[in-house]
Amino acid sequence: MNDKPKNLPNAQPNGEPLKPLTDVVLERRATAEFLPDEVPEEFLEAILKLGAQAPSGYNLQPWRFVVVREEENRKRLQAVAFNQPKVGQAPVVIIAVGMTREWKERADEVFREGAERGAGSLDTWEKYRDGAFQFLEGMQHMPTWVNRHTMIAYTVMMLAAEAYGFDTAPMEGFDAAAVKREFNVPEEGEVVALLAIGRAKGAEKVYPGRFGLSRIVYEERFGEAWEGNDEV
Ligand SMILES: Cc1cc2nc3c(=O)[nH]c(=O)nc-3n(C[C@H](O)[C@H](O)[C@H](O)COP(=O)(O)O)c2cc1C
Repeated sequence: MNDKPKNLPNAQPNGEPLKPLTDVVLERRATAEFLPDEVPEEFLEAILKLGAQAPSGYNLQPWRFVVVREEENRKRLQAVAFNQPKVGQAPVVIIAVGMTREWKERADEVFREGAERGAGSLDTWEKYRDGAFQFLEGMQHMPTWVNRHTMIAYTVMMLAAEAYGFDTAPMEGFDAAAVKREFNVPEEGEVVALLAIGRAKGAEKVYPGRFGLSRIVYEERFGEAWEGNDEV
């Protein structure tokens, strides 16, 4: 496995500083329409590399990402994504895939290398791996497990793209079986979501609002009112 990426761009393509996290979260909108402007290679790579740093259970990283940039392929993807125009418009669309079985083949590398790097013990990594296998083999529904992890890496990519000043559109509107077939995703692969990245066309999408904390956060037990401040 690689070391942490070095020398990632630390400014937007126009030289402006990276957006602070609060702006990234508050200003991000699901973009409806994209301009054809490219995402420069250096920035696309940085977005992917940052996503690859996401955490996952046992560090097994059961995610894969298909970067679709060629127009013909974006159109092919659009056709299996309920014909959503933004899939064909955006210069980059990432297909996020979770692998329900392949993690097992990579597990020795993950556990041994983690131990060699000092993140685990060289004497006990095999025992630790066996414990992980036992836990994961008891998992009722592997698609849920890979979704959980893949969406973290995906979200890091989405927020990294926004920090670099790009616009994004997360998408679940696609025919998963057709995406698999069209883009050679293996049978065990779970197509989790699509992420379009580029530059928004036209006016910024209107903020649709969010529930206040009193509607979604509880205190200590599910259903117990959260006493915190609910004001904006
Ligand atoms: C996982 C996920 C899948 C989504 N799928 C679609 C989609 O297929 N098509 C679409 O137009 N919007 C899609 N959206 C966008 C949501 O509708 C949008 O994020 C939501 O309405 C809130 O708006 P905002 O992101 O601009 O704040 C998706 C969002 C997420 C997080």
